[in-house]
Amino acid sequence: GNIWEEYSSKVIDRMSNPRFLGEFSEEDAKKRNAKLVVADFGSEACGDAVRLYWLVDSKTDKILDARFKSFGCGTAIASSDVMAELTIGKTIDEAMKITNLDVEKALRDDPNKPAFPPQKMHCSVMAYDVIIEAASKYKGVDPKKIKNSEIVC
Ligand code: FES
Ligand code: FES
Repeated sequence: GNIWEEYSSKVIDRMSNPRFLGEFSEEDAKKRNAKLVVADFGSEACGDAVRLYWLVDSKTDKILDARFKSFGCGTAIASSDVMAELTIGKTIDEAMKITNLDVEKALRDDPNKPAFPPQKMHCSVMAYDVIIEAASKYKGVDPKKIKNSEIVC
C-alpha cells in the first residue's frame, strides 16, 4: 500500500507545520513572571532527540506555555507538537499523566484508525519521556522515580 495512507492528515499537517516549535529564554520567563524549565530526551533506539521548554507559574505549578525542538522524524515532530499543546494549562502533576497513547489519539483523524504505523510508536514515546524529564527537573527528583514503568516502546 501507499505509506502516506498509514499517516493521519493531522500527523502530516503537524510534521510540516508544527504550532509549538520554538524555544523560550530566561528573558521570556521573566516577562511572564514564570520559571523556565528546559529538558532534553534522547532515544536510545534511533538516536533522535527532543528538547522541551516550559514556562511554569511557580505559585500554582501550572504550565503557562510550551515549545519544543526536535531532531526526530516527522512522527516525532507531530507527536512533540501535540504533546507541547496538551501540557499547556495543566499543572506539572497533570502533565505527567499525559502518555504517548494520549498523543497518538490526539493525532487520529478516525478514532478507530491509528495516527501512524506501529513501528513509529517509539517516536511518540519520546514525547512522554521528555515530559518526565522536564517534570523531574522542576521537582528536583530523579526521572526514574516518577516514570510510569508501564510505558515502554
Ligand atoms: Fe527517531 Fe522517529 S524519532 S525515528
Ligand atoms: Fe525509539 Fe524507544 S524511543 S525505540
